[in-house]
Amino acid sequence: MPKFSLFPESASTIAGQVDALFFFMIAVSAFFGLLIAGLIVFLSIRYRRRAGSNEAGDPVHVPIALEAAWTVIPLAITMVMFYWGASVYMTMARPPDDAHEIFVVGKQWMWKLQHLEGRREINELHVPVGQPIKLTMTSEDVIHSFYVPAFRIKSDVVPGRYSTAWFEATQVGTYHLFCAEYCGTEHSQMIGSVIVMDPSDFQTWLSGTDADAGMAASSPKDTGQQLFTQKGCATCHRGVSGSMGPALAGVFGRERTFADGSKAVADEAYLRQSILSPQAHVVAGYQPVMPTFQGQIDEEGMLALIQYIKSLPAETSPGPEKQG
Ligand code: CUA
Repeated sequence: MPKFSLFPESASTIAGQVDALFFFMIAVSAFFGLLIAGLIVFLSIRYRRRAGSNEAGDPVHVPIALEAAWTVIPLAITMVMFYWGASVYMTMARPPDDAHEIFVVGKQWMWKLQHLEGRREINELHVPVGQPIKLTMTSEDVIHSFYVPAFRIKSDVVPGRYSTAWFEATQVGTYHLFCAEYCGTEHSQMIGSVIVMDPSDFQTWLSGTDADAGMAASSPKDTGQQLFTQKGCATCHRGVSGSMGPALAGVFGRERTFADGSKAVADEAYLRQSILSPQAHVVAGYQPVMPTFQGQIDEEGMLALIQYIKSLPAETSPGPEKQG
């Protein structure tokens, strides 16, 4: 039985900021809550109806300065909460560029995690201490929520789209991982641990083998490359002039212009949509001829395929590339 504590330990760089904001809001709420409750009790005794009298209160004229004060002060306090909260939120919403990426797929009722180097885990996540980690997450079925109290991160994991979260662990140790969104019968069993290791121990672990596979697993990039060949993507996306589809080399992170004149940056969500619903955005200069791959690639395969497309270097396209 672990020792009981009212407050989770804090083991990430963001934890202190979240706690400071939380305690500030608790302090403000407690101060005003107690003040108002105290005044209600005090005033109802002080101005109680006394036997034999039938007093009606005099109309009260509040000085404008007092009225302004009780409007402006609460406004200022809530604005402090708003800006402080928004700034912590923005910090949590934007993973640093040097973050180590890990894929997370939630399903009833387990967490599947994959490192770019190839290692896969179920309900366990090994990470190095002192290194920002970005999680790219999706679900195979219903909505789950990835929650690590010690890191103060909680993010919904939604089918059909990618959500991201990031953290940088500050202490070696093992921390609880919960599903924080009711997702069916065994929701309460959808738990695991995050194991924070020394960077050198982590490297050793990373180069190890999967216990279940008994051999080093292939990286998402390699799996993605296999899928790219298997599904025939290369037939149309070869990157030579006259191809049926636009070249994919270097496409990640670039702005695309579509047949209807609209534009979007090619990120994970865009690539995913282009594979599942190719007609949603047809790149200018091409025909809407691509079939959907809906139901043919599972979520892990999708992440792998996207990882492969991300890895294609920009300079490999021979011939004049069409606008896109
Ligand atoms: Cu998954 Cu609750």
